[in-house]
Amino acid sequence: DPVVVAIDGPSGSGKSSVAKAVAAHFGYGYLDTGAMYRAVTLWCLRTGVDLADQEAVVAAAEDLPLGLGVDPTETTVELDGEDVADAIRTSEVSGVVSAVATNLGVRAVLQQAQRDLIELIADDFGGVVAEGRDITTVVAPDAAVRILLTASEAARLARRSTQLHGSADAATVAATHDEVVRRDRDDSTVSQFTQAADGVVLLDTSELDFEGSVAAAIAIVTA
Ligand code: CDP
Repeated sequence: DPVVVAIDGPSGSGKSSVAKAVAAHFGYGYLDTGAMYRAVTLWCLRTGVDLADQEAVVAAAEDLPLGLGVDPTETTVELDGEDVADAIRTSEVSGVVSAVATNLGVRAVLQQAQRDLIELIADDFGGVVAEGRDITTVVAPDAAVRILLTASEAARLARRSTQLHGSADAATVAATHDEVVRRDRDDSTVSQFTQAADGVVLLDTSELDFEGSVAAAIAIVTA
């Protein structure tokens, strides 16, 4: 049977890079569910949909012209055929994506699309690693492997600071603080990462580097 690996975690926990590496290791497909919330957000900004108009945003999510690459070694995100892999990760999008992610109608649409994609990708590749914030609990609670990736706030800030600004010196980390901590707070109605749900394996990467985190995740999948 195709293997479904579900990985959740807050921003800066390393879930995207670890999930991709785990998928590549096993030859599985990869689903970045955060990219879907980000793509809906960017599409609304570009087409002039008011993010406060809940029904209009749901309609945008339903008709999203999204192309999502599921090969973990070559991830792509397209909207209406245009490469938006970088555009969905700008601060314009990160700053307002929580307004889209807390729209329950949008969540219902994307969660169903994600369940369908997980099944398709798993069949295609013999397995799938799906990552996000509600995969272990809502989208794929029956996944064979479920991992909650955490890290201390200090470790997450340092990683995100390096990723976004190429540096983890004190001033850069301080500037990154607002984006990471505020977004986690804005997301807190849809995802809480203080403890792992029943049956979910907690992997704390505060003291691990990237290779160590990947090795630990692979060990959990293999166990
Ligand atoms: O950049 P980061 O890794 O923190 O986040 P992401 O995985 O790109 O997700 C971006 C945003 O999408 C999050 O801040 C959440 O608001 C939302 N999201 C969600 O609500 N549920 C998911 N399964 C994945 C993402």
